Amino acid sequence: MLKKIAEFKDSADRDHSLDWERIHSISCAKIGQILALKRGVDAELAAIACSVHDYGRIITGKQRGHAAAAYAPLKHFLAETGRFTADEIERLAQAAKNHSSKTEIGTPLEEIVKDADVLDCYQYGLPLEREEQRQRLKMILAEIS
Ligand SMILES: [Fe+2]
Repeated sequence: MLKKIAEFKDSADRDHSLDWERIHSISCAKIGQILALKRGVDAELAAIACSVHDYGRIITGKQRGHAAAAYAPLKHFLAETGRFTADEIERLAQAAKNHSSKTEIGTPLEEIVKDADVLDCYQYGLPLEREEQRQRLKMILAEIS
């Protein structure tokens, strides 16, 4: 994923810096791995799902609609690596596509991506602007405390 991010250049047009994309990708992966271990989900796949969940924003530079924007390009990127089955590619792409839908309950893998995203923003002191993000944070903190 870091190699993919390195293909892009920072610009004022990007909603988030590429440094943030690197930090968020790596730390979400670690959070997701821990959540997966705790919840009995494939920890490696969860770490990968978390690391690529903002693929849409990385390739477009834009926050708006970035989850949906990830789906097809992410499937292509994952297939190019030659490391994943078709089922894994679909699950990873779905998790990226659905990660902004914080009010909906998805597959265990999707929930880990959403939770890792929220918890990572929390640990860096970023504002959780939507009520559903704050509610999710409250549940995650209760789960891990
Ligand atoms: Fe995102």
